[in-house]
Amino acid sequence: MRIAVLNGPNLNRLGLREPKIYGSRTLADLEALIKAEGDRLGAHVECFQSNHEGALVDKLHFLADAGCDGVILNAGAYTHTSIALRDAIAATGLKVVEVHVSNVHAREEFRHHSHLAAVCAGVICGLGFESYLAALRYLVKPA
Ligand code: DQA
Repeated sequence: MRIAVLNGPNLNRLGLREPKIYGSRTLADLEALIKAEGDRLGAHVECFQSNHEGALVDKLHFLADAGCDGVILNAGAYTHTSIALRDAIAATGLKVVEVHVSNVHAREEFRHHSHLAAVCAGVICGLGFESYLAALRYLVKPA
């Protein structure tokens, strides 16, 4: 089973950006954690981060063509703005779980709406890095 983890804009700054909201651990820590859980579950995990909307769209197309089994997507602020990412998820038919480190519903109003949620299998937010691990467990073994 092949699972991809896609992190969008500013998530390369984890550990440095607003630590009260996002914690002190880095993107490298996150990717190591998910890969270790993937090994434990017998899934191959590939990680990718970009600050660019089009690069994330291209990656979704590539993953679909490569037969990826599931995607864990934290699109960062593009969650709240990007119709292109929503269309890419719909167009590829990839099984995507939207995740967020923070509880977007407890934050500013503009973070409450996701353009992606309706075309995702589900949404997990507010659990810190555990949001990604819960998504991984679901994708490997759907409830
Ligand atoms: C985020 C929440 C978004 O609203 C924000 O723009 C991010 C990070 C999260 O993981 O909590 O960049 O996706």
